[in-house]
Amino acid sequence: MSTNSHGDGTRVIRAGSTLPVSGMPMHNGPVFAAPFHLADVEPGADGADVYARYDNPTLREFESSVGGLDAGRTLAFASGMAALSAVFFGCLSAGQKLVIPANGYFTGRSLADAHLRRFGVEIAMVGTDVVEERLRAGDFAGAKLILVETPSNPGLDVCDIPVVAELAHQQGALLAVDNTTATPLGQRPLELGADIVVASDTKALSGHSDLLMGHVSVLDDGLFASLKGWRDHTGAIPGPFETWLASRSIGTLDLRLARQAENAAAVAELLAGAPQVSNVRWPWRTDDPSYPIASRQMLRPMGVVSAILPSADAVARLIAASDLLTAATSFGGLHTTVDRRAQFGGDSVAEGFVRISCGCEDTVDLVQDVTTALRAITA
Ligand SMILES: Cc1ncc(COP(=O)(O)O)c(C=O)c1O
Repeated sequence: MSTNSHGDGTRVIRAGSTLPVSGMPMHNGPVFAAPFHLADVEPGADGADVYARYDNPTLREFESSVGGLDAGRTLAFASGMAALSAVFFGCLSAGQKLVIPANGYFTGRSLADAHLRRFGVEIAMVGTDVVEERLRAGDFAGAKLILVETPSNPGLDVCDIPVVAELAHQQGALLAVDNTTATPLGQRPLELGADIVVASDTKALSGHSDLLMGHVSVLDDGLFASLKGWRDHTGAIPGPFETWLASRSIGTLDLRLARQAENAAAVAELLAGAPQVSNVRWPWRTDDPSYPIASRQMLRPMGVVSAILPSADAVARLIAASDLLTAATSFGGLHTTVDRRAQFGGDSVAEGFVRISCGCEDTVDLVQDVTTALRAITA
């Protein structure tokens, strides 16, 4: 069903849905099967499923929903890292060059460093905020694949996707955009000129902090076939229950993002007004360095804020003095969480740097709670 003329709330509820069938549920349950009956026909005759690693009804429903939202053809993966691995290993060969974000999700860098180098892929890194100027300067000539993460995790820097796509294409490179923080409702990179969208659906897309998933969306059929080939061989598909949970969660994505963004706006404002807190980042604050590009290319704000507190101890005191701030990594879930990134050692950030993922609590409650907690770090 085409829903592209509808608003976000309608699009996510109708995403991937089929015409109603009398006596059938609104949302089909997960299909638990490894092999399917072949009966007396050739494998795959009339599009019948054969073996769940290649395709299955629950996967198709999720991929059809996300493909509609991303405006591309989607493949689901067992995690965001499985999706990123498919992009790296499905698109690159020995002797080719990959450009990755120096300030994006750190496991992407360590995957490239630990495994792609072994297979003879050259790796260059660049900050999200300077990728455009470095491409213009010809610093990555000969690169085959350029990955950007915009807004980047955890620093929330952005880059101009249409401009970077054009520069990448001029030199014969593919552009992949990690769209995890924005989600398909917040940004449609394929419509902005990117060749590949990759995302961790563990975050806001599924949004309940209870599963790992990822996806890749593309427009080009050849690219789709090679990524599907990678997935068929490696078996990096999500199980039916996770996939079904994620499909079920997509219906509330518009509502969840709206509340998360409202909370993020309020929390960013409180942090910016607190003397002990510096470098508050939220791309939708008009004085944020990311604002000019974010407000032009993104379709709506998201719920992740970052800031620097004076020390690791100040972060611990903030959390201890709060009822609603939960210490946890990841982001995009229903609960407001605080992640002191330096404890993981992968990002080059200050000890007191926090990524705050604003959840879906009532804004008035969160504001009161954060106001109280901020007093504790002044005391
Ligand atoms: C921007 C980004 N991309 C990819 C990933 C990897 O996703 P997953 O943890 O689902 O493997 C993450 C995880 O935090 C992320 O933040």
